[in-house]
Amino acid sequence: MGKIILTGDRPTGKLHLGHYVGSLKRRVELQNSGEYDEIYIMIADAQALTDNADNPDKVRNNIIEVALDYLSCGLDPAKSNIFIQSQVPELTELAFYYMNLVTVSRLQRNPTVKSEIQMRNFEASIPVGFFTYPISQASDITAFKATTVPVGEDQKPMIEQTVEIVRRFNSVYGEVLVEPEVLLPQNTACLRLPGTDGKAKMSKSLGNCIYLSDSAEEVRKKVMGMFTDPNHLKVSDPGKVEGNCVFTYLDAFSKPEHFAKYLPEYASLDELKEHYRCGGLGDVKCKKLLIAVLEEELAPIRARRREFEQNIEGVYEMLRKGSQVAQAKAARTLMEVKDAMRINYFQDKELIARQAEAYRECK
Ligand code: TRP
Repeated sequence: MGKIILTGDRPTGKLHLGHYVGSLKRRVELQNSGEYDEIYIMIADAQALTDNADNPDKVRNNIIEVALDYLSCGLDPAKSNIFIQSQVPELTELAFYYMNLVTVSRLQRNPTVKSEIQMRNFEASIPVGFFTYPISQASDITAFKATTVPVGEDQKPMIEQTVEIVRRFNSVYGEVLVEPEVLLPQNTACLRLPGTDGKAKMSKSLGNCIYLSDSAEEVRKKVMGMFTDPNHLKVSDPGKVEGNCVFTYLDAFSKPEHFAKYLPEYASLDELKEHYRCGGLGDVKCKKLLIAVLEEELAPIRARRREFEQNIEGVYEMLRKGSQVAQAKAARTLMEVKDAMRINYFQDKELIARQAEAYRECK
């Protein structure tokens, strides 16, 4: 059996550094490792609509933004098949059948759904589509027989839910579906990159994001305004590194060679942290290092984005072709699912012959 990747993002805004370290960067590495036989990257517009039903233009307009972010980070359509979820209707059909295999109470226990319901103040009026999106996500994953799902930590419960559906399906109907494995970021700072304000998560609604498409000047301003240690008032004060965004971001982005290049008086991030803890190291110096480190990562992404932005028609054409390839694969899986579920009446010539025979006999 081949190794297959499926993953994706909701097109509700441009992608930010949280997306990048949480999953995007890894995807590009996996893509270039040559270890995967098929790679599917999905723009999850149907899922985005589950909590944006009254704002379809937001979803519509962000498809191109997410596609541009993908391409500028180095996802290569020659190796990774990029597609739009709603253009593969087979996914919806699969979800409808999987719904029979999941209970309401199991969905209510899904920690990601729980916290999202709270965040959106849905408590008393949860759209059914939103409530069931983990099931739709199981369709996304299983339709491609994905073995590997690289995602951020918040998506782990979705993969667990998918594994349960796969087991249940295979035990009831026979071995058709493949159990996926979640692939989380290796660096703990990347598991959940905080917002620039120190809040637990980078999120558009909190206004604490650094976007992949931000200009160098925007990045500089955002880093200069970043949350550090509120008790580190004077340079000479001892500072806290834990919960200090500048250091969390350095944990996520800095490499040993950055020190020789930008701050040769420190041999490593550990030395810098030690100095900060003891007192005598100012925030601005650390922030300037972070700006340089981020620029090294973001400048090439920004430059590639500029190029793709000049060819929007080409990007849509790439998505159209990607969606066709994805649909062909999902259709094959759906056929197998329907065979296993015994809802393949017209394909099953024997069924018709047998029933016809039975009725002829009792005449
Ligand atoms: N839920 C993911 C997000 O919020 C998007 C997504 C939809 C996804 N279907 C998926 C991710 C399947 C991985 C696999 O970004």
